[in-house]
Amino acid sequence: MDNIQVGKLIRRLRAEKNMTQREIADQMGITEQAVSKWERGLGGPDISLLPELSTILGVNEDDYYVTIDHEMSREHYISFVAYVGYDRVLIVKLYPQQDAELRFPKMQGRRILAYCNQHGLWEERL
Ligand SMILES: [Fe+2]
Repeated sequence: MDNIQVGKLIRRLRAEKNMTQREIADQMGITEQAVSKWERGLGGPDISLLPELSTILGVNEDDYYVTIDHEMSREHYISFVAYVGYDRVLIVKLYPQQDAELRFPKMQGRRILAYCNQHGLWEERL
């Protein structure tokens, strides 16, 4: 993951927890500007901060955090994503104008199928 992806993930997890940048910063004893910089992809958090940041954001090591790089406009978007395990399939519906970001519980099997409303189905590997 590059800094932009890390930043997006931080912002998304922070939003899931309904936390402000200030709240994260205060808990970690750093500045709000630092958190803002991470989220904008202008440099990632120092590796020594990751364990604490992961705990605050509730990162679950049993989950995959997947971002699919695809347009999500009203006219052209990913309509659903299916994560194919060896004995089950998990389907997540997506909507235009949201980000194509998903969280899946880790299962055996690493296939992901995504369906675009214009280009149909394709496969990705985790
Ligand atoms: Fe497409």
